[in-house]
Amino acid sequence: MASLLIKNIHSLVQTDISPRRIAKGKDMQHLPVINEAFLLMEGDRIMEFGEMYACPERADTVIDAKGKMVFPCWCDSHTHLVFAGSREQEFADRLKGMSYEEIARRGGGIQNSANLLNETDEEVLLKQALNRIDEVIGYGTGAIEIKSGYGLSVEGELKMLRVIQHLKEIANIPIKATFLGAHVVPQAYKNRRDEYLDLIINTMLPKIADEGLADYIDVFCEKVAFNPVETERLILAGERFGLKAKIHTNQFNSMGGIEASVKNKALSVDHLEVVNDQEISCLKESDTIATLLPTAPFFLDDPYPPARKLIDAGLTVALATDYNPGSSPSGRMPFVLSLACIKMKMTPEEAVNAATLNGATAMEMEHDHGSIAEGKVANVFITKEIPSIAFLPYAFGSDLIDQVIINGKPV
Ligand code: NIG
Ligand code: FE
Repeated sequence: MASLLIKNIHSLVQTDISPRRIAKGKDMQHLPVINEAFLLMEGDRIMEFGEMYACPERADTVIDAKGKMVFPCWCDSHTHLVFAGSREQEFADRLKGMSYEEIARRGGGIQNSANLLNETDEEVLLKQALNRIDEVIGYGTGAIEIKSGYGLSVEGELKMLRVIQHLKEIANIPIKATFLGAHVVPQAYKNRRDEYLDLIINTMLPKIADEGLADYIDVFCEKVAFNPVETERLILAGERFGLKAKIHTNQFNSMGGIEASVKNKALSVDHLEVVNDQEISCLKESDTIATLLPTAPFFLDDPYPPARKLIDAGLTVALATDYNPGSSPSGRMPFVLSLACIKMKMTPEEAVNAATLNGATAMEMEHDHGSIAEGKVANVFITKEIPSIAFLPYAFGSDLIDQVIINGKPV
């Protein structure tokens, strides 16, 4: 097996000597670091790491990282990166004052992306999505979740999930697939929403389960999409097919989505731009992860999630990009960290934990990803010469990544 040694690392970040599965509440401030360190990888795994005095003499390939830092790759636990076309016209309309919700109500938004996706061939979708994956690996992402939800028809949803399945086979980072048939009620079912729910539950889910196309189920619980009663019905249907829930909720309204998710043991609730104290208390009683997506409120010019309140309440917070054509046309994790610090007052250490270990946990990949630990998959990135961890979110927009290593090999 080929070995790769990185030596003279100024700071090796997020080291996990005694396996620590999750960073919760004030633990999120704790980011274990080894200064003047080495990291040895063999095959696709992390073999050994520590201070330079114990550095092995030899390896097949040696990288000198003097003045540089090494991080575990980002674990982006919420994306919609399989999509067709783009929505810059809606962006321009919003700049003139129209809201995201108004655009959705006139049949634009998610329905617009669904129309485009249903007209696009599977091979084209695959090629474009693979390009996006390559792009985000360049930003340091080493594990990712991808949702369906731009099909909104049996064929469309299956097409998307098959593309994601195909990506799992050919991409060199691990992928989790989430079925989001309940993204919005499609135009064709406008006055027959129950029929659409029946279609999801009785036709889509059995087919998806039969082909093993999804790891999770998601619902957009929101006024423009599905209510909490419908959300709960869908979560329970997913559960019957062995799919845990990751739920879009509290993006624009606080309307019971968190309670419905927590009650049914959702793995995560995602967005949370609008969240009240009662909902925070409800989350406190659960293991449900709060996944925040700050590039969405940045792009939509909405309020940011109250990250400080959530962390100070002791919750587990993850950060993800929400990469999608409507509310976050960017998959750049370093910018997510910058927004988390600048706009949500997370500390740089909390932001790194949220974007690595907690993101991995929000995809149930924490055993293999999210930290520098012996035996974990060797997905790490080397920064350019930077003085400290805080420099990463501080120098927002700068490209500070020098080299990304996936499965123990530089890409
Ligand atoms: O997470 N809010 C729902 N879904 C996506 C946006 C999808 C879209 O606008 O195309 C989100 O923001
Ligand atoms: Fe989303």
